[in-house]
Formats: sequence, C-alpha cells, structure tokens
Amino acid sequence: MQVGLFGGTGFVGSYLVDALVAAGHRPSLLVRAGSEDRVRHADACRIVEGRIDEASAVEEALRGCDAVIYNIGILREYPSRGITFRALQLDGARSAIDAAVRVGVNRFVLMSANGVEARSTPYQETKFRAEQHLATSGLAGTVFRPSVVFGDPRGRMEFCTQLARDMIRPPIPAPNFFTGWSPARGGFAMSPVHVENVAAAFVRALEMADTIGGCYPLCGPEALPWPGIIRRIAAACGRRKLILPAPVAPIRLLAGLLDRFEFFPVTRDQLTMLVQGNSGDSGAVFRLLDIQPRKFVVDELDYLRDSQAPGR
Ligand SMILES: NC(=O)c1ccc[n+]([C@@H]2O[C@H](COP(=O)([O-])OP(=O)(O)OC[C@H]3O[C@@H](n4cnc5c(N)ncnc54)[C@H](OP(=O)(O)O)[C@@H]3O)[C@@H](O)[C@H]2O)c1
Repeated sequence: MQVGLFGGTGFVGSYLVDALVAAGHRPSLLVRAGSEDRVRHADACRIVEGRIDEASAVEEALRGCDAVIYNIGILREYPSRGITFRALQLDGARSAIDAAVRVGVNRFVLMSANGVEARSTPYQETKFRAEQHLATSGLAGTVFRPSVVFGDPRGRMEFCTQLARDMIRPPIPAPNFFTGWSPARGGFAMSPVHVENVAAAFVRALEMADTIGGCYPLCGPEALPWPGIIRRIAAACGRRKLILPAPVAPIRLLAGLLDRFEFFPVTRDQLTMLVQGNSGDSGAVFRLLDIQPRKFVVDELDYLRDSQAPGR
C-alpha cells in the first residue's frame, strides 16, 4: 500500500521508512525544504516538498494513499522560530487527520508517547489532544505510545547519545536524580524500547484490523532504575561512571530560569517528565503484533562507542 508519512526524516522516521519499504509498501513523505537529503530509500518513496502548516502540501502527500502515519514531534520548543508543541504535535496532527478525512484515506496510525495525559506538560498535553482528535475523527485509528526509544540514531540524536554527550563523557559524576528529600525514596524507572521494534509495530498495525481503535504503550521488556540506565550507557561508551545523588528540585528551578536559552541542556518540563518515570508492560501488544522486543543491553548499544552525538 501507499502510506502517507509525516516525520519520515528523523530518527524514528528513518526506521519507519526502512520497515515500510521492507514490507513492500510505498512511503509518501511530506518533507520540508532542506531535509530532502535525509530521506532513506528515496527511490522507493514518493516525496512531496512542503511544511506541515501548508494544507495543500499535506493533502498532496496523502493523495493516492491507503493509510497515514503521523510521526512529527519535538522535545523542546523554540517559540520565536514557530517551533512549538502545539504547532507540531497538535495542529500538525489535526491537519493531517482532517486532510485524511477530506481525501478519503481511512487508516491512520498516530505516534504519541508513554504516559501522556490531559493536564500535564505541553509535550504530553498536545499529544493527548491529538489522540482525542483522532478518536473523534471517524477514521480507523491506532495510537502507539513509546517509552524512550533507543537505537543507532544515524546522525540524529536519541536519548542514549544525548546522555552519553551530556552526562557520561564529561569528567564529572553523573546525577542520580531523585524527587523529594531522600535519594532512597525518590527513584524512577524507564523501559527503553528499540527503534526497530517501534517501526515494526507501526507497519504491522497497518496490516492488522485488530489494532483499529487501540492505544498501545510500547515499552521495552525491562524497567530499569535510572542509575541502571546510566551504568549501561557508560559501559557501552567504555567508561566507568561515578553516580551521585542529585535532588531534582533545585535543578528544575535553575532550568525554569535558563531553559529559554538554547545553550541550557534541559528544560524544566523535560526534567518533570524524566522523574515521572517512563516504564510499562507491552508484552500483550508485542505478542499481538508478533514482535520479539529487544533488550536494553550493552550489546545493543554498540553505536555509542564511537558516536559523538552531533547536535541537530
Ligand atoms: N525518540 C524517543 O525517545 C521518542 C519517545 C516517544 C515518542 N517519540 C515520538 O516519536 C516521534 C519521532 O521522534 P524522533 O525522536 O524520531 O524525533 P526527530 O529525530 O527529531 O524527528 C522528528 C521528525 O519530525 C520532523 N519535524 C521536526 N520539526 C519539524 C517542523 N518544524 N516542521 C516539520 N517537521 C518537523 C523532522 O523533520 P526534519 O528532518 O525536517 O527535521 C523529523 O522528520 C515524535 O513524535 C516523538 O514525540 C519519540
């Protein structure tokens, strides 16, 4: 089938293109000017140049499609450049959903995120509202909510390359963030999920009517406490790392003052979401989709050994 794909040029998107092409589908990508070189398997894709806020380009990308995947999202907003959660995760998703209705493409798979809810950070809230819009659109929709996604980012950035750059390589101890007043009580866990498992889930769901109407967390098979995540990334980088307790409250306060400046590595909301934890059980959906989830182990993190985690 021909599959409209929004956000096909980034980390997860590049694996979505791989999985679609490997399954014999033809991706139809909306690509913004300057990102053309990032399209993988360009010969096997249909490419429409345009922005997500251009209704005509969005419709054009969907023309002749049998299904749609909406995967555009950001981790940090830059309002002065028009890069906001609202524009890309809510208005953009709405625009793609409404265009699918107009053009008559009935199947829609939406990229969301683990733990999104109505009253939360703008990242989570915009994703949640996009889910609601899909649910009321009349389309045959499926939502996936991944935990943190790991895998070779192919020159982009994923959470391991970012942590390697910001916490593992600098010659200072890594923080063991905790909420409240005691490190013994304020820990959190994550269930990193492999990018190829995420891409496979999207592509299998397109072909499985059973998944219509479903909203599925995509979490890896192991919930690891934060120090365990740091240790595995450090081991994959060939380092040993001292980890010291760090209360998150003062760091969040500092981020509240400085996160409007791009040099500051983390935003207040990112810290809020980090310490909420990001784990869950996706055994049932991986069984439904016949996917064997890959573990977050050092052997799977080979790509960290030489990566220098370039910026975007
Ligand atoms: N990575 C994770 O751990 C994780 C976890 C849960 C959910 N997700 C979700 O998965 C999706 C993909 O994430 P990712 O990590 O692959 O991000 P990414 O590498 O930054 O890719 C983002 C995609 O969105 C596009 N995009 C970004 N800003 C845009 C803009 N202003 N206008 C139009 N397109 C824009 C990018 O296009 P360009 O190539 O033109 O920049 C790219 O195709 C997002 O929705 C994210 O919220 C990711």
